[in-house]
This record gives sequence, structure tokens and C-alpha cells, in this order.
Amino acid sequence: MNIIKVKNADEGAQKAFEIYQNVIKSGAKVLGLATGSSPIALYDRLSASDLDFSNMTSVNLDEYLGLDGDNDQSYRYFMNQHLFNQKPFKHSYVPDGKSDDHEAAAKAYDQIIAENPIDLQLLGIGRNGHIGFNEPGTSFDSTTHIVDLTQSTIDANARFFEKESDVPTQAISMGIASVMSAKQILLVAYGDTKADAIAATVNGPVSETVPASVLQNHENVTIIVDEAAASKL
Ligand code: F6R
Repeated sequence: MNIIKVKNADEGAQKAFEIYQNVIKSGAKVLGLATGSSPIALYDRLSASDLDFSNMTSVNLDEYLGLDGDNDQSYRYFMNQHLFNQKPFKHSYVPDGKSDDHEAAAKAYDQIIAENPIDLQLLGIGRNGHIGFNEPGTSFDSTTHIVDLTQSTIDANARFFEKESDVPTQAISMGIASVMSAKQILLVAYGDTKADAIAATVNGPVSETVPASVLQNHENVTIIVDEAAASKL
């Protein structure tokens, strides 16, 4: 694992932006993207840049079940706001949270990933070590699947909703095997609430109780952390 320590999220976003410039220059065609607060400053930089995504494909990690793309809490909406409206991709895939048949939607998403091998997968990390919506205990062999969110994740996400009861309790998420199939992975984490998860990811045993610890088994992982997130390394 290549660990890059930065002073703050802004410096982290600049380092991450440089990684994107390089992989795109080297011919990357498929970007795996994440939502949440951690990538926002990076998306701001990508949006303001002269990079051209119009021949590229994006594949997002996850989506809440029950929310369609017009709902301002959906991850499709988030991606439109933070990146896609400014920088359209040729194809932008986000798992379908509104399908009548969730199993079929999960299978269809795996097919999309198989047809569009991910060159660079961006990840945030949950306080409990989740990646995507792969909560502790998720099999490392998992592909796209339906997830019951843990209380810790519902609590963490409640800040984006008017009241906690509005937070969806289920999501559809790319699996851990799908994340690991990416050629390169970039994880970004800022703030002291991520310090335990980062320490367990980098130095702990590789265990399904800390989903991100699987990244120790990947040959091309970069982790960008600010001082607070790195404080227990
Ligand atoms: C989002 C996602 C989640 C977040 C994680 C961290 O698509 O997959 O795993 O990356 O919950 O969220 P933030 O960045 O808001 O702390």
C-alpha cells in the first residue's frame, strides 16, 4: 500500500487530482466512483479542470434502495451535482435503486462491471471500515448485492437527511470482489472519525470484520489520509 499523508482534505484532493491526471494520460477508460463527503473536493477539481471524460465510462459503487435519480438524496443525484453535470461521461453507471427486481438489478450491474473493467476505483471508508456499502462481515467474494445498512452507517448518513427516519435502511452495492477487480484503487479518508478504520485497514489483520483490510491483498492501492485520519497509524 502506498500511503500519502497530507495536511488536510484540500491537499489530499490535489494529490488525488494528480493521480487522475496521470491515469487518464496513461489511457484509463473506466473510472469507479464513490459518493460521500470525502471525494467532494476532488470532484470540484475534476469539474473545474480541462480533463475530458466524454469518451470515458464511470461506474459508481452504490445507491440507496427506493430512491430514484431525481431524489436529491440519491447517489445518482449527488454524482450529477458534483461531477456529471459539469463533466459528462460517455456512460455513467450507478446501481439501480428503483428496480422491481433487485436481484436482476444486481446481476445486470455485475455484467456492466465485467464489460467495463475498472481502471481506477475511488473509495471512501466508513467509520466501521466499510467500503462501498459493504458492511463488516461481508464476504470478500461478494459481487453486487443488496445490503441492510448497519445502525452505525445509518447514524453517519443521517446528517444528510432531515430526520433519521428518512435515511433508507437498504442499499445496492458493488461487492468486495468487484472492488478488488479494479486495476488500481485510491482510498481517501479525512478526519479523526476515520483513524481507527484506517489503522485497522493498514496494520490490522486481513479480516471480513474490517472490509477495507482486504485492500492489503491488492497490488496497486494508494491511500490518501490527513493527519487526523493517520493519527493511529
Ligand atoms: C459512498 C460509499 C461509502 C463512503 C463512506 C465514507 O459511495 O461507498 O463507503 O465512501 O461511507 O463516507 P464519507 O466520505 O461521507 O465519510
